[in-house]
Amino acid sequence: MTTHRIALVPGDGIGREVVPAACAVLDAVGARHGVSFDYDEFDWSCERYLREGAMMPADGLDLVRGHDAIFLGAVGQPGVPDHVSLWGLLIPIRRRFRQYVNLRPIRVFEGLESPVRGARPGEVDFVVVRENVEGEYSEIGGRLNRGFPEEMAVQESVFTRAGVTRVLDHAFELAGTRRGYVTSATKSNGIVHTLPFWDELVAERGALHPDVRWDQEHIDALCAKFVLDPARFDVVVGSNLFGDILSDLAAAVAGGIGIAPAANVNPEREFPSMFEPVHGSAPDIAGRGIANPIGAVWTAAMMLDHLGHAEAAAEVEAAVAAVLAKTDVRTPDLGGTATTASFTRALLGFVGP
Ligand code: NAI
Ligand code: MG
Repeated sequence: MTTHRIALVPGDGIGREVVPAACAVLDAVGARHGVSFDYDEFDWSCERYLREGAMMPADGLDLVRGHDAIFLGAVGQPGVPDHVSLWGLLIPIRRRFRQYVNLRPIRVFEGLESPVRGARPGEVDFVVVRENVEGEYSEIGGRLNRGFPEEMAVQESVFTRAGVTRVLDHAFELAGTRRGYVTSATKSNGIVHTLPFWDELVAERGALHPDVRWDQEHIDALCAKFVLDPARFDVVVGSNLFGDILSDLAAAVAGGIGIAPAANVNPEREFPSMFEPVHGSAPDIAGRGIANPIGAVWTAAMMLDHLGHAEAAAEVEAAVAAVLAKTDVRTPDLGGTATTASFTRALLGFVGP
């Protein structure tokens, strides 16, 4: 029996509803594969911020540094500015634990209708690789002359050779294990310093991966192609901001934000990686028990894969595919009437042979 220590951060809103669903699936599939999970739960959240003035304690990162992985639901609550929850929890974890690769796979599952007419099951299957620790999400900049007519804001983007190279290499290597095709998101026509640099590095790294084809698209045209021809993509790599936007668009093409998973990975494994669905805390439906758990469950499959249990991971993904293909159990975001709990029960029925 292998036991993994998982730091569990359910967070706010539906984060607290989908995390138990993911744990139930992890426990069930783990039992079949000789893997168990020892969950340490942390109450880091906007609720904690309102109560104690911080999203997590000052030594929070030390408390989870020794865990095998971090599993997070979502954070965010009306009344707490979103930059507080992001910069008070998610960004420090991503940066201090050098989780510089954010992986966001999407698939159009059989039984799920994509809002995009041409997006057919089996044909749309790609991964957005988002640079996760630098780029446009930087603290460098500031505000001047607050409240006066000449008030101004400056925000610097940071693109380093080391930071861009390592995420590009990850994307090329990932493509080498898939269909061998990388698309780089750029905007080097309008953004004249950072993105030409990004493009140069793409060409440089591409030349070192001769088994992988690559091309690049300006972000605006790329958004159109996500909608018009999503089946053409295999691995799409982008900067922090572009990758963030593209992954929500990709999730929508696949049928909804509630199904999209994500992994913040430290490939060197010097630190725990963090697994969290793409969606947020969904205050509009929180507390009603109707959140779609697919995003969190698929995220759990990514965590299994990262922890070395590829077969168990594939089994979870297959169970998600099976509920969608073989039953009409759906949560309301996908047009059904199932609750988080009843959907999870249906899913557990497909875990295993
Ligand atoms: P959101 O993803 O929470 O919700 C967007 C829409 O999708 C809502 O209508 C919601 O009901 C629906 N939705 C999302 N996940 C769903 C699920 N699993 N099942 C059914 N419906 C689902 O994004 P929004 O509204 O922009 O942000 C709400 C809060 O979440 C904000 O405070 C935001 O900062 C935070 N947020 C946190 C993230 C994180 O913790 N990783 C990521 C994105 C947003
Ligand atoms: Mg996002």
